[in-house]
Amino acid sequence: MSKLLNEYDYDSIHAQAGELMKHRKHLKQSAVDKYMDYFNTKCAKSKAETLLAKEVIPGGIQHNLANNHPFALAIEKADGPYLYDIDGNRYIDFLCAGGPIILGNNYPAVRDAAVKQIVENSSLTGLYSPYERELAELIHKYMPSIEMYRSLGSGTEADIIAIRLARAYTGKKHIIRIMGGYHGWSDQLVYNSSSAKNDMLNGIPVDCFQNTHSVPVNDVEALEATIEKYEKEGGVAAFVMEAVGQDSGAVPTTKEYHRAARELCDKHGMLLIYDEVVTGFRLGMGGAQAIFGTHPDLTVFGKIIGGGFGSSGGIGGRKDIMSLLAAGVSAEAENKVKVGGTLSANPLTTLGGITVIKELAAKNVHAQLDKASEYFMKGIEEISEKYNVPALIFHHSSILHIDVHGLQHIPYFYKPEDPEYNVQLMDAYKNYIEFSMALAAEGLIIANGGKTYLPYGSIGILDDALDVYDRVFSQFE
Ligand SMILES: Cc1ncc(COP(=O)(O)O)c(C=O)c1O
Repeated sequence: MSKLLNEYDYDSIHAQAGELMKHRKHLKQSAVDKYMDYFNTKCAKSKAETLLAKEVIPGGIQHNLANNHPFALAIEKADGPYLYDIDGNRYIDFLCAGGPIILGNNYPAVRDAAVKQIVENSSLTGLYSPYERELAELIHKYMPSIEMYRSLGSGTEADIIAIRLARAYTGKKHIIRIMGGYHGWSDQLVYNSSSAKNDMLNGIPVDCFQNTHSVPVNDVEALEATIEKYEKEGGVAAFVMEAVGQDSGAVPTTKEYHRAARELCDKHGMLLIYDEVVTGFRLGMGGAQAIFGTHPDLTVFGKIIGGGFGSSGGIGGRKDIMSLLAAGVSAEAENKVKVGGTLSANPLTTLGGITVIKELAAKNVHAQLDKASEYFMKGIEEISEKYNVPALIFHHSSILHIDVHGLQHIPYFYKPEDPEYNVQLMDAYKNYIEFSMALAAEGLIIANGGKTYLPYGSIGILDDALDVYDRVFSQFE
């Protein structure tokens, strides 16, 4: 019923999402009660901590990617494949801090390089350090489309600059993106124009994002029609896409779509921007673009590129476009694109990125992760069949899609004005929250949504992780 699917076979994934919508199952109420009891009794210190945090931090939590139902777990230690909360409970870490921690927590080579840097040198000077060049060279070595690279403070910042550069370079106004794709939380990209019902949406005047338009994934005709529509109204500067598709590929893109997008961008004189914040150095040394065989004009980075340290983001691509970002007093080019960041390109983060990239290459980590992910996902397929729980199961290398709700697929089956749209949304959401909560109570933490990440450090404990999923799947109705 729930076969392990090929990640680039969108038709089969779409069909299985439809099945999931018709036959979605939930955890038994007795299991939900049991897991609530776990949180209330075994995580009492986290619960108390959450109440204190709520007094001084809005909602008591500052991360969107981790489960916080019924409350956030307070983590005090992370080591190898495990996380430890302040009550002393241990969890397998499939969150990987939302993607960056590909090698595992406190990975010795990365930790030692950082400690040495702090003790012997400095974590921040505001001046140039050769690590900046070394990181740019390394990225270019593995991703040839990155002729030049500039470090920035986050993926969000890099996405902001990507569309600014595209507009500066092409002189055109509009941006097209894939429906549901995430490109950070800036005014222009957090929503698209179809989200607006009033003049202002959650603090953002709609004017800010009226030039950002979204298209359904893998629909070449819709993309071309949207380009043609806005070509007459100021032109389209770029098509920006999460390279593997929405939510780390939960709704995946096809290879044909990438090829068509490249051709359309060339035909219409617009830039192709890949958001590889998640996929860069996760899917392989060449990122998603090596897999699709398409050269984007610009690529946006975050997460792994900073080795797990703060201020992690960057943009790279064609030299003629990137040159517009020249910084410093000698760079007063007329068409210079403004960009800055006090902590961007700091030595700790750039060294962290360099160390992780070198380690990934030296240990051939991606090949091992691919094998481990295949083994793990076959195990999940068996578990889902054993307990007859419908699921969407596929993986992009170590990005695992173990989706028992189909939340991200709902807009591909129902229009927002259809009453069933909200019914599906609520039902999927309940399932999604309870699933994350159940896994945590059984000892494993995942990333929210339809995806999670497998770290290199967990390869030795995959059967333990499968046992956790087995226990949770056994509790479905
Ligand atoms: C595809 C994608 N783009 C951009 C971002 C934003 O990156 P950051 O959280 O570093 O601002 C994220 C974050 O999860 C992301 O997944």
